[in-house]
Amino acid sequence: MRVKPNIEPMIPYTPGRRAPGGIKLSSNENPLGPAPAAIEALRRTADSIHIYPDQLGEPLLRAISDTLEIDRARLIIGNGSDELMVLACAAYLDRDENAVSARHTFSQYEYATRLFCAEYRPVPMRDYRFDADAILSAVDQETRVVWLCNPNNPTGTVMPPAEVERILRSLDRTTLVILDEAYHDYMDDDDARLDTRSLVDHYPNLLALRTFSKIYGLAALRVGYGFGSTELIEGLRRVKQPFNVNGAAIAAAHAALGDHKHHAHSLEANREGKRRLYDGLSALDLEYLETQANFVTVRLPADATPIAARMLDDGVAVRPLASFGLPEWIRVTVGTSGQLDRFFETLEPALRY
Ligand SMILES: Cc1ncc(COP(=O)(O)O)c(C=O)c1O
Repeated sequence: MRVKPNIEPMIPYTPGRRAPGGIKLSSNENPLGPAPAAIEALRRTADSIHIYPDQLGEPLLRAISDTLEIDRARLIIGNGSDELMVLACAAYLDRDENAVSARHTFSQYEYATRLFCAEYRPVPMRDYRFDADAILSAVDQETRVVWLCNPNNPTGTVMPPAEVERILRSLDRTTLVILDEAYHDYMDDDDARLDTRSLVDHYPNLLALRTFSKIYGLAALRVGYGFGSTELIEGLRRVKQPFNVNGAAIAAAHAALGDHKHHAHSLEANREGKRRLYDGLSALDLEYLETQANFVTVRLPADATPIAARMLDDGVAVRPLASFGLPEWIRVTVGTSGQLDRFFETLEPALRY
């Protein structure tokens, strides 16, 4: 069998590695684990799994609607935010149109774009940030989607809010802007914080995406959500599978949303871990990017792939960034203090090798 020509150059997603019995700092998961309230809710769902879940994800849909103060018609729940990226392209991106994004960003934007036979246009970044000028200059008549990642994976950087607004103001309303905010819970720079909730009221072509995989600690359950205008969300609902999010995931995410203690604790642990990483990396004289997420991106003095492989042999998985176009860099998830001890213990010998 031959795959379709647009699928030909695609390779299967490379997930963050795991060291058997070791420490996984390669996929930006919450090192504190899931919200305890979510574990309880998951147990409670066990005796009702013979019943199909609610098609739109109630009662999670209502809880998000209350939290964001947004009408339920403007919300959609997905099987991870990854699924919502595909649904957005299924509904709005056609063959021979194009999608614009940045060079060093999340691989699923290219994947979702190519699935629908459209061209993917990655543009250079400025200081490892999305660059509004570069993005706008790549946009043409055939551009239907602009992908923004804020904070960006893998650099941890954010765009100044005024730059995001400039992109939105400059684009035609027929171009969908997908603003991926998977890491927004971890932001601690208030000046950099976007008022996404107001932006979706002003721009009917803006789709914001968030996830329960990061600070809520539910990556294995696969739950994300999107919000935007009623019209935009209606397009996504048309193309989604009837029961796209399973009942256990809906129940657990609903409970996690109300577990404010776990959220606050995770945020505080991330702040401490970031400081620890900054101090340790500075002591080793390694360049790193200041992050607004739950990972730090570090430049190594040589090709990062073999160095990361040596660390993996030593029981610590980090993400080498060659596939993101950054061959000398690794991305390390902000782990617990014990995990970060192990990270530094394995990094130093791997560098000296
Ligand atoms: C920027 C970004 N968006 C989305 C996701 C995936 O989120 P989900 O688990 O909700 O599919 C990730 C996961 O690493 C990510 O880094």
